[in-house]
Amino acid sequence: MTNFQPRWSFDLENLGINTFKSQGLNCTYPNEHITQIEFNIMKQRILTGIRPTGKLHLGHYVGALENWIRLQEEYDCFFLIADYQALGDHIDEMENIKIAVRDVVLDWLSVGLDPEKSTFLVQSYVPEHAELALLLSMLTPLGMLDRNPTLKSERERLSNTSLSVGFYTYPVSQIADILLPKAHLVPVGEDQLPHIEMTREIARRFNNRYGEVFPEPDSLVGRVARLMGTDGQAKMSKSIGNVIYLSDDSDTVKKKIMSMYTDPTRLRATDPGHVEGNPVFQYHDAFNDDLEEVNDLKERYVQGTVGDVEVKQKLISAVNQFLDPIRDLRDKYEHDIDYVNDCIENGSAKARVTAQNTMKEVRERMGLSYSVNT
Ligand code: TRP
Repeated sequence: MTNFQPRWSFDLENLGINTFKSQGLNCTYPNEHITQIEFNIMKQRILTGIRPTGKLHLGHYVGALENWIRLQEEYDCFFLIADYQALGDHIDEMENIKIAVRDVVLDWLSVGLDPEKSTFLVQSYVPEHAELALLLSMLTPLGMLDRNPTLKSERERLSNTSLSVGFYTYPVSQIADILLPKAHLVPVGEDQLPHIEMTREIARRFNNRYGEVFPEPDSLVGRVARLMGTDGQAKMSKSIGNVIYLSDDSDTVKKKIMSMYTDPTRLRATDPGHVEGNPVFQYHDAFNDDLEEVNDLKERYVQGTVGDVEVKQKLISAVNQFLDPIRDLRDKYEHDIDYVNDCIENGSAKARVTAQNTMKEVRERMGLSYSVNT
């Protein structure tokens, strides 16, 4: 896909303009006697992110990453590693979080996210995230958190542990992540949609109270909203262990696929099988480019003329073919950890400038940049 950068040029004398300032326009002045300026229309901005709690898997790819890779050509993308957020329920695991930050950057680079085009940042390297989260928490009614369905189910899952206030309010921190760079679009997995809806609501509240500062961001869900686990559960989840990682080698992929859950009603290869709700076929649809092969397997599966083994073997080839180029890139970057580190150091430093500008504006609008002697 080509870079979306329309160029416009205006004759200033004809237009009778000598000072030119407009939000969203990035002006360049070649010299002080300019009669003509050229500017690019600033790209719309994306912020999206991930908690560093482990390596990324196939579900992340089709649910989110695939969109990010495409969108980085058209948008000014900020890709965030939300380590503050991970602390909410992993406070004693800082060492693991650190390892996961490295793994996530490696996964991103391996799938083709490009720090030359986009900004990679770590939340705690930009502490303005914490300041904005605190200020926005004052505008967020408790009831809004109580009603958030994603938070509700996570709270139920963690109900036997003592929940921290930080975990309870993480959606507010996530809203700050999105609003800090004034993002227009947030491409995420389906489970994140309630948080984006809340972001819109809080942006609206802020703007109504203090004047227009934040865009109300849209959300975008990936091609496969929910990739089933290898065990047939609704979702891949590393805590259950039903995942195929982007960094799995070909033997591991083979083992995981060979032991995958298929159609429990089918005892023999000659029994008619079910394609719906069968993770093996969901993965074929997601990762096998050979449509003819997939359709043929489905037909024969329903008729009872193909065994699980053949279906799985073809899936192993397809998934390994999909993962091979990702593995090659991973291998390259694993040998260049300085580069991996630079990506997040430089990206975070750049994001921090944007964050500081927004915070200056936020403090002024909220009346927080005051002095008591005036
Ligand atoms: N909650 C997201 C996840 O669990 C991670 C995240 C943090 C995020 N901040 C964000 C996602 C901002 C989108 C936008 O993966």
